[in-house]
Amino acid sequence: AYPFFKDLRKTEPVYPLSKEDGNTTWIVTQYEDVLSLLKKPSFIKDQSKLFSQQEEDETPLEVKVFQNMMLDVDPPDHRRLRKLVQPHFNPKTIRKLEPRILDIADDLINEMRKKDGPVDLIDDFAFPLPIIVISELLGVPVEDRDKFRQWSNTIVSAADNTQEDFAADINDFIHYLDILFEERQADPREDLISKLLQTREEGDLLSNDELYSMIVLLIIAGHETTVNLIGNGMLALFEHPEELDKLINDLSLTETAVEECLRYYSPVDFSTARWAEEELTLRGRTIKRGDLVLASLSSANRDEKKFDNPDEFDITRKPNSHIAFGYGIHFCLGAPLARLEGKIAFQKLLTAFPHIKLAEKRPEWRNMFLLRGLKQLLIKLNTES
Ligand code: HEM
Repeated sequence: AYPFFKDLRKTEPVYPLSKEDGNTTWIVTQYEDVLSLLKKPSFIKDQSKLFSQQEEDETPLEVKVFQNMMLDVDPPDHRRLRKLVQPHFNPKTIRKLEPRILDIADDLINEMRKKDGPVDLIDDFAFPLPIIVISELLGVPVEDRDKFRQWSNTIVSAADNTQEDFAADINDFIHYLDILFEERQADPREDLISKLLQTREEGDLLSNDELYSMIVLLIIAGHETTVNLIGNGMLALFEHPEELDKLINDLSLTETAVEECLRYYSPVDFSTARWAEEELTLRGRTIKRGDLVLASLSSANRDEKKFDNPDEFDITRKPNSHIAFGYGIHFCLGAPLARLEGKIAFQKLLTAFPHIKLAEKRPEWRNMFLLRGLKQLLIKLNTES
């Protein structure tokens, strides 16, 4: 994908990917354009403002759950929903989780030590770490994490599934939440689900549909992103042994290393879809009202006009104004959490296993549209030679 984006940045920075019913889907690849689009209020999430929707008696659950997500709504609803959860994800609140995240990382590392032969860093570390953290924060039982993994995978790999399988999985997910909500309502705890249930009861700040959408969004965001920061980041380090050595010898470089991993192999390739509410001309191309625009964060983060030697992986890069967490009003809510998890993950892994090595030739990427992550990453933990 990177050579393709490089080519597009040069030749067709506003690229018409496809056309349907008179509307075009555009891919935007230059840093400056991505930034300017993501901050324009005229690129919106709510399609019903643009197209006359067919009247349906009842929108199916598997559609409704996405329409009500904060990530998929415009102001003023977006502001209201974000305000409800923002305090739980502020840097100050997140810092309090540090001791617990350190413990979780230690436990996972101890389990890895017990294994003979190569270990899959994704399954045994990069995946469980953020899942346990988000599960505890929300108050969903960690034992059920295989179920969440399946539902989450269904959502991000939608193109691989039939419509029926997709609907069935989302319905199972919602049904599971129904039971969980009942339990928490009867016996509230100190977790985010209990707090949001209380908000729903108290007034009109959060509707029932929005509550489901919020939890589904947080579970997916907590499942499918930080795992890729850790997995993609370790791959980048293995591909650049001199940078890996540098980091092992000086762990105070971890913070800039995390930022460089986010830039170099961005876990979210494209920002989610936005529709043009007004016509706009960009680099000689006319984006019409109703056209869909996909902004490539991966491409922007490798734009030679913004970064010196963008294809070079440099864990000391500074400044590093990548936009791996997006930009504008939908800027990632979980960024402080993801950064902390990434920092702890790299520090713990490299301290425990200073001779860590890649144990496969060419790790495979998962087949996902918006996200970039590995299927597995086989490693040897203690090869001294
Ligand atoms: C939004 C990236 C981790 C929760 C976003 C967006 C990006 C992003 C690019 C904006 C999408 C758009 O504008 O279309 C990442 C990356 C992560 C990460 C790279 C890890 C390395 C997390 C975590 C959580 C989270 C751990 C939650 C616990 C959210 C939420 C939004 C969001 C709720 C929607 C915000 C809004 O609409 O206002 N993330 N994310 N993210 N992210 Fe993350």
